[in-house]
Amino acid sequence: GHGLETQVVGKDIKYFNELDSTNTYAKLIAAEGCADGTAVIAEAQTAGKGRLGRGWSSAHKKGIWMSIVLRPLIAPEEIQIMTLAASIAVAKAIEQECHVRPGIKWPNDVLLESKKVCGILTEMNCEIERINFLVLGIGINVNHDMEDFPEALREIAGSLKECCGGEVAEPKKEFSRKNIIRCILAELDVIYRRLNTENEEAYADEAKQIVDEWKKYSVTIGRRVKAAMKGQELVGVATDITRDGRLIIACEDGSIREVMSGEVSVRGL
Ligand code: BTN
Repeated sequence: GHGLETQVVGKDIKYFNELDSTNTYAKLIAAEGCADGTAVIAEAQTAGKGRLGRGWSSAHKKGIWMSIVLRPLIAPEEIQIMTLAASIAVAKAIEQECHVRPGIKWPNDVLLESKKVCGILTEMNCEIERINFLVLGIGINVNHDMEDFPEALREIAGSLKECCGGEVAEPKKEFSRKNIIRCILAELDVIYRRLNTENEEAYADEAKQIVDEWKKYSVTIGRRVKAAMKGQELVGVATDITRDGRLIIACEDGSIREVMSGEVSVRGL
């Protein structure tokens, strides 16, 4: 027993010392029919995956490497809402456990002191009009010292331990990964059960609440950004996100564009 009282998310937890990638394993057991809400957690990943084909550094016992299998009723094009919900759950868990206010960079990087402490990789298995399952892969750097990151990442990555210290806190504080995991699963459980309704009005209402909540953490909206996607670059001001989680950019050439998270990398200018 892990003492968690969620109804769906995290009701079943598969725990490993090491996996290649918790997302890869989660997709496998999802295809074999595992329960809605099953969480896969590994102490280390040997081939952690990031967005846009990148890797994800996943040192042993330093962070939270977790994937959650969901079987949502929403249409495939609305999947972005679930990713926003996951980033909110992570931000709230960090607030509760570390007493700092994180920012979220669109679509779902959680930042502290402008350093990325969490990334989320959502993968989906769907047919034309329905989602068979989706996997929310959450990576959080928790107790890393700067030396635990590969050198190339030290400018952009941070950990909760490194970024919650304050000015004088020495030695830096380690955080309980277990408590943070509990908190995330509990938050997601509530949001997921509310969203997973066949009543369209209720769904629209919940989705709007998620978008509004997400905006409160956003460090992207109102900023100049450059979005890079296949063979194209957009430069402009990020003005808002749509009801289904696309980023709206007012481009310098006067056009208004909406971009989806699967295809772009956005950076602040
Ligand atoms: C990103 O590029 O920002 C997304 C990173 C996602 C990393 C997590 S760690 C747990 C899960 N398993 C993976 O292989 N990736 C995700």
